[in-house]
Amino acid sequence: MQPSNSASQLLRYVVRPGGQLSGAIRVPGDKSISHRSIMLGSIAEGTTEVYGFLEGEDALATLEAFRSMGVQIEGPNDGVVKIQGVGLHGLKEPEGELYVGNAGTAMRLLAGLMAGQKFPVTLTGDRSLSRRPMNRVANPLREMGVNVDTAEDGRPPMAIQGGQLSAIHYDMPMASAQVKSCVLLAGIYAGGKTSVVEPAPTRDHTERMLRGFGYDVVTEAGEASSKGKNKSKKVSIVGGGKLSAISIDVPADISSAAFFMVAASISPGSDITLQHVGINPTRDGIINILKLMGADITLSNQSEVGGEPVADIRVRYVPLHGINIPEELVPLAIDEFPVLFVAAACAEGTTVLTGAEELRVKESDRIQVMADGLQSLGVDAEPTPDGMIVKGGQLTGGEVETHDDHRIAMSFTVAALRASGPIVVNNCAHVATSFPGFVQLAQKSGIKVEEELV
Ligand code: S3P
Repeated sequence: MQPSNSASQLLRYVVRPGGQLSGAIRVPGDKSISHRSIMLGSIAEGTTEVYGFLEGEDALATLEAFRSMGVQIEGPNDGVVKIQGVGLHGLKEPEGELYVGNAGTAMRLLAGLMAGQKFPVTLTGDRSLSRRPMNRVANPLREMGVNVDTAEDGRPPMAIQGGQLSAIHYDMPMASAQVKSCVLLAGIYAGGKTSVVEPAPTRDHTERMLRGFGYDVVTEAGEASSKGKNKSKKVSIVGGGKLSAISIDVPADISSAAFFMVAASISPGSDITLQHVGINPTRDGIINILKLMGADITLSNQSEVGGEPVADIRVRYVPLHGINIPEELVPLAIDEFPVLFVAAACAEGTTVLTGAEELRVKESDRIQVMADGLQSLGVDAEPTPDGMIVKGGQLTGGEVETHDDHRIAMSFTVAALRASGPIVVNNCAHVATSFPGFVQLAQKSGIKVEEELV
């Protein structure tokens, strides 16, 4: 059943200008890892325990989807979830459609998993997800022999009727972890070896977690990509194995930590520590881009939890300067550009982003929506087909629209730290998809944000 849609609530943030960040905080669990923990735990044999699970709307929608396919799931209680795995062939046909809320990750990864089931499933999502392209997963699944129907232009809903799957070799046209993961998950149900080549490295949580569950995944470094300095990578999986239950410790989400990293980097006097953050090398572009802009970022307490590297990240204010963002860092920071545009707006000089056309098909068109919002705050921000040119300067106060996009809402909240007047951020309910408790944590660390229901 479709839960009450957060987009229908009119929640806005009013953020007073100024402030500085201090203290030590832990942001909620990683969204990508939380989704995957439910999916893989459900098809494993035995009881999987998850700690630090993200209790945001997106991951909870995934959890409900698996409950409706007959999986017994306890929790979440304080971030702890216990999943009674049903094995690769134990999922049951759900009574209705599977509603996955705002989550592209859930829809695209589930498409791969559903392709291997003997029953038909229809995947639906909220207003924002219903605008996003699904042919990028429907096409490789069709090559594997799956019947996939979508609405016009490959948009959701997506109806999937799996069956006997053939293994394929798939050259991904774009650098997408969701597409890679979809094909790999379908590959578990195919006869023989399925392989995916990615034009540039993308987040590898699926591969790491599958290995954690005892399922072999082979990664081979490839040739230099024609698209830039990135090396392509080939990932292969052989169908017909099994997953054995494990215990998973979900690190804090670097994509949520990013808002506080930028906030501290743009507000004089700030010194903040973000605890136990996942610093997987396929996700750490935000650290490296901010460092290239001159940021003072140090890592401590580095360790590894469940195959994922973590660290405490300390960020102290120093003035930033504009840069040309190296294209090879783009896939490694793909979710962080809304807030990086804010960093660029507060930096000395010009920042140029290229090679980031994927930003146009995220929860919103993040190039256009951020450029519009920054311009309305007096920033010289010029959108380009695959990026943006941002000239640093003084931000004014003003009113901005989020277009149902959680990361846009949080980015403009951070921007107020350097604005000359208050910023009103309209339509912020979607923040709950990835960052429950954002406002409270932001207030605690020094951002002057208040919520208003309108
Ligand atoms: C994700 C992959 C990325 C990212 C998204 C989460 C994942 O999407 O933007 O927020 O968990 O696999 P793409 O695969 O479309 O790049």
